[in-house]
Amino acid sequence: MTAQIIDGKALADELRASFKSRVASLAAKGQRPGLAVILVGEDPASQVYVRNKVSACEALGMHSEKIVYAATTSQAEVLTKIAELNANPAIHGILVQLPLPKHIDEDAILEAILPEKDVDGFHAENVGALAQGNPRFIPCTPYGVMKMFEKYGVDLTGKEAVVIGRSNIVGKPMALLLISAGATVTVCNSKTRDLAFHTRRADILVAALGKPRFVSADMIKPGAVVIDVGINRIPEGPDAGKLCGDVDFAAAKDVASLITPVPGGVGPMTITMLLANTIESAERVLKERN
Ligand code: GUN
Repeated sequence: MTAQIIDGKALADELRASFKSRVASLAAKGQRPGLAVILVGEDPASQVYVRNKVSACEALGMHSEKIVYAATTSQAEVLTKIAELNANPAIHGILVQLPLPKHIDEDAILEAILPEKDVDGFHAENVGALAQGNPRFIPCTPYGVMKMFEKYGVDLTGKEAVVIGRSNIVGKPMALLLISAGATVTVCNSKTRDLAFHTRRADILVAALGKPRFVSADMIKPGAVVIDVGINRIPEGPDAGKLCGDVDFAAAKDVASLITPVPGGVGPMTITMLLANTIESAERVLKERN
C-alpha cells in the first residue's frame, strides 16, 4: 500500500484564504485582529518560528507586534510587558515563544497572560476548559491535526489512537482532543515499556517525541493514519542539515494509509491555527461590544 499524503500546505493555504474576509470584516468594524509575539533569547529555531508567525499575520492584514528580549532579561521585565499587552485593546492574542531561558519560570509567564488572549491555549484556565471538553482556545498544533482529520475524512470514533510524547504543547492537548472525539487513547513517553507494542495497535498514530526518523515502518499498523509532528534537522549523513520528522517517512508511506510529510505537513497548520485563534479572539471582543 502506498499512503495518501496529507498536504498540510494546501490545507493551510485554503484556510488562510478563508480567513481574509473575516480579518477585513473585523478591520472595517475597528477590530483588526492583533497578535503579540514575545521571544526571549536567541534560539535560532525560535527566531524562525517567531518570524514566520509575524509574517503570516501581515499576509492576512492582521496587526502584529514582535517583542524580542535578550536571554538575560529578567522575568519581571517580561511580566511587565505581558501586563501592558493584556491591557492593550489592539492586541487579541499574546504568545510567548517556548522554551524560555532557565531563569524564567514558564508557569508564571503563561499564567500572567489574560486567558481571553491566550491564543496558545496554555493558561491553566484554558487547559482546564479543554480537559472538560469545552475549549476556549485549542493549542495550535493539535488543533491543526484535528483540522487535517476533518479535511481527510478520518473518523476517530472508536479508533485506537496512540500519541508518542506527553508535552503540554502537543502530546497532552492532542490526547484530550482525541478523547473528546471518541477515540481510545494511549499516551506514550520515553519511559514506555515496549513502545512498538502500543504503536502497532494504533489506527491513528501521532508522533511528537522530537527524535529524527525514530518511528520505523515496523512500528506502524498497516493502513494506519500517521501524523508526524516532529521537525528535526538531520544530524549527519547524505541529508545532513535537511528537515525531517519523527517518522521514517520513506518507509512508513508504504505501510500507512494516510501520512503527513515533513516539511509540508503539520508545520504550516500550526501557524494557521494560531491565526484562527487570534481572529476568533477578535470576533469574541466584537460580539461582547455589541
Ligand atoms: N514552541 C514550540 N511550539 C510552540 C507553540 O506552539 N507555542 C509557543 N508559545 N511556543 C512553542
